[in-house]
Amino acid sequence: MELQQLAKTILYTPTLEARFFLPEGGLTSLTDHDPGKPQPWIEPLRPENLQIAPKKKRKSLPHPSSLHDPAMRVRCLHTFANHEMMALELMAWALLAYPDAPPAFRRGMAWLIQEEQRHLALYIERIEDNNACFGDLPVNDHFWRIAPLLDTPLKWVCALNLTFEQANLDHAPVFARYFRKAGDEKSAALMDQIVEDEIKHVGFGVRWLRHFSNGVLSDFETFTQNLNDYMGIERAKGDEFNVEARRLAGFDDDFIQALKTA
Ligand SMILES: [Fe+2]
Ligand SMILES: [Fe+2]
Repeated sequence: MELQQLAKTILYTPTLEARFFLPEGGLTSLTDHDPGKPQPWIEPLRPENLQIAPKKKRKSLPHPSSLHDPAMRVRCLHTFANHEMMALELMAWALLAYPDAPPAFRRGMAWLIQEEQRHLALYIERIEDNNACFGDLPVNDHFWRIAPLLDTPLKWVCALNLTFEQANLDHAPVFARYFRKAGDEKSAALMDQIVEDEIKHVGFGVRWLRHFSNGVLSDFETFTQNLNDYMGIERAKGDEFNVEARRLAGFDDDFIQALKTA
């Protein structure tokens, strides 16, 4: 199967199951002989219970200190599951949007899809352990909104890997701590796993930021110049700035210091 076909199956089959689609032979069986022409963002098709909810119906992410309340735990896990689903939808779309990107970038994108499929499955499992279903609560279009602005793979990397995923290096450990405090060790362990994986995903972003940069600007300047109007630089970090995870992801100290003080 072609990467293009993988992307279309994930995006335009209106079922949750389709988000988990991979060909039988796995990633190595995927080919990329015909990446096609660049395709604009078209909203993915989803089942009825995962349609984007009107703003007034949406629920905000609960403060981590409320995670002792089972309803808040579900709401939190549900929000994170939706983030994973939107991330993998934007990854699938990247395969349609950037046919001319280097083959290694496109292969990496398929790997990221598989990673986020695993995360989505793990969150859904935790939601179901808490006697709820993914789709029970209204979902937002947080990541979808920015897609039309990502007209280059570099902008995609800066938004997805280097903003949303980078911020998760700060947010996820905080949620791990609060889940643990609330006695939910399984969700805490999941958050630990997410941090470990996110370091690799952000690392993918760091490598491609350098690949796509013009070699004149610093990593940090390239990053800030390729953010979009929806995303200030503050979105790339949380309250508890995780220097160690950023080093492991491959950022240099100049970038880390610049973001920390920005
Ligand atoms: Fe993820
Ligand atoms: Fe990720």
